[in-house]
Amino acid sequence: MVPRRLMVLQAFTGVGKKSRKLIYEILKLCTELCRSGTSISFAWVPRHVGVFGNELRDRAAKAALRGVETPTLTHTVSEIGGLVRSNIMTKWQTRWDQTTNGRFFHGIKPRGFKDKVYRQRRDFFSQIAMEYKYGEPIPRIEYTEEEVRTWGVVFGELLKLYPTHACREYLRNLPALAEQCGFRVDNMPQLEDVSQFLKARTGFQLRPVAGYLSSRDFLAGLAFRVFHCTQYIRHSTQPLYTPEPDSCHDLIGHVPLLADPSFAQFSQEIGLASLGTSNEEVQKLATCYFFTIEFGLCKQHGELRAYGAGLLSSFGEIQHALSDKATKIAFEPARASQQECLITTYQDVYFYTESFEEAKERMRQFAATIKRPFAVRYNPYTQSVEILDNTHCIASVVAELKGDLCIVSDALRRLQLIEKENEPQTPITNANFQPTTVDSIRQ
Ligand SMILES: [Fe+2]
Repeated sequence: MVPRRLMVLQAFTGVGKKSRKLIYEILKLCTELCRSGTSISFAWVPRHVGVFGNELRDRAAKAALRGVETPTLTHTVSEIGGLVRSNIMTKWQTRWDQTTNGRFFHGIKPRGFKDKVYRQRRDFFSQIAMEYKYGEPIPRIEYTEEEVRTWGVVFGELLKLYPTHACREYLRNLPALAEQCGFRVDNMPQLEDVSQFLKARTGFQLRPVAGYLSSRDFLAGLAFRVFHCTQYIRHSTQPLYTPEPDSCHDLIGHVPLLADPSFAQFSQEIGLASLGTSNEEVQKLATCYFFTIEFGLCKQHGELRAYGAGLLSSFGEIQHALSDKATKIAFEPARASQQECLITTYQDVYFYTESFEEAKERMRQFAATIKRPFAVRYNPYTQSVEILDNTHCIASVVAELKGDLCIVSDALRRLQLIEKENEPQTPITNANFQPTTVDSIRQ
């Protein structure tokens, strides 16, 4: 929850009323320090017996002492907003053109930097993202004619390519998005409508964001089925290219696949794997995310199709990636995690799998190699992440799984009964009669 180093906070023993009040004061102080940009780290006191209501953070501190960094172990979906807002305020962009080191992301100055009207518009969107609180409806935007025109150029050009370039899961979801969320060339969809649509389909929700997030924060959002989505659009003078994410990239590229249950689960699993891991491991996962969910290819009906959002939202790169000019190799997470991610040019290499399921399975195997002294599980009922590091937690998960297995086996039994009833009765004749005896089974 609280960033590492600079200041050491000692936890206190005892669960008395005094201690609880003291811990509350300390947590309040930590929050204020965190918001002002001060980094804090916990030091675990070996005889500490825990503080009521503080168990999850205690475990994070314990894990840190075992040599695993747990700088931002978030636990509930509502905590994501505060954490991200705090990181935006202290580490990342509070405005479109700012980063902590005073430079643009990757040293790039996007189009529109010198356009005062466009800069004001971007500040307006930044403000919405900064003020947004979890659970509130995302504010609706009255997009200008120019913005809708830019959206229309991008979407219109891409629609011509999709039948021959996009994967079938993507194509399957586009009509519903057009019908229910207004995905049309003459209309920019509203984030709130899209968020409601996704929630009903796969449980994913959108959260408006002002600009780039750290890999850790972005992946943490996915763990809770929260997708951080931009609400602004690129500058109108270059509609077919932008080095930074915008609504065209997020809505056209990501959203149709977030509505696919298998893909949604794949995205969440990458997010879950990132929680409580070291910065080095997060970087590896973020790179795998980049070469799958952003630039991934998969085989369908014997030919390659795009499922990566970076490709599905780029008129030029989707054609390049599927042409003979591009280098394409089979997806191996260990190999992909070492590949350089290119922001301003086409990728040197693209990775493909035989299906989404294969990508998911390979990522699962890769995630199992990540050093972490505990496993995590998302609880959809409480919208929180549970740390499975003791027998009690694991036993309750097993009990829940047992319940699910009963439901599945009951459904299977009922289907088998129906099938049996509908089976045509074959009369027994000498030709098809096979006597079953104990001897014949033994043979
Ligand atoms: Fe993206």
